[in-house]
Amino acid sequence: MKDKLIIANHKMNLNADDLNKYLDKISKINNKNVIICPTSIYIPYFINKTQVGIQNVYCYSKGSYTGEISPMQAKSLGVNYVIVGHSERRCYFEESDILINKKIVESLNNNLKVILCIGETLEQKNMLKTDQVLKRQIINSLNNINSIDNIIIAYEPVWAIGTGIVPDTSSISSTISYIRTIIDKLFPNNSVKILYGGSVTEKNIVELNKIKEVNGFLVGGASLNPDEFLKIVEVVAGQ
Ligand code: 13P
Repeated sequence: MKDKLIIANHKMNLNADDLNKYLDKISKINNKNVIICPTSIYIPYFINKTQVGIQNVYCYSKGSYTGEISPMQAKSLGVNYVIVGHSERRCYFEESDILINKKIVESLNNNLKVILCIGETLEQKNMLKTDQVLKRQIINSLNNINSIDNIIIAYEPVWAIGTGIVPDTSSISSTISYIRTIIDKLFPNNSVKILYGGSVTEKNIVELNKIKEVNGFLVGGASLNPDEFLKIVEVVAGQ
């Protein structure tokens, strides 16, 4: 599949002083398939300079939900993508598949493209439950959703996130093929993109980029350094 996506997830990193330098460097990228998801308060710095995603949203359009941001508000600022179901949200903020499903519905209703993260923990992997966990996450998160056209799947094994440990390429390819069979059953004739995320760096990107089942990457730590992120983009998008 051409048009691989390269998505940067800054999480809760960088500060206002870092942003000019960061933006200066990444302004060289002129590719709509490169999407930056900064910490929410920095989104306005990125609008009109890159494709922008928000790292999280709430499941309603407006109301008394102190501290939350709605898909409608994000869209009104020029945000086009949203990350939903990241393992850090599932783990630290106890987000359930039911809440994730509501967030997806509200995001799609507001014309945001959803990056749905799924992945197994180390414990689940060791108990040989990876397939079962991924299937449950997919089916529950996509409950009552009619079309997958505006959804991207990001497979991020929890044990690979921020650890420097990356699954071997054959297991990434077989897990992503498995995810595709589940999605194909739910949405026949789809062309959904399935990305890999978890300790992607400039050092391993050449190898990872050879896995034909992978349609792009979700990059955390390595996206904080603009030079390293540019190298990753160069390998994946040839830019
Ligand atoms: P790292 O690239 O830092 O492992 O993070 C991956 C991730 O969680 C992206 O959403």
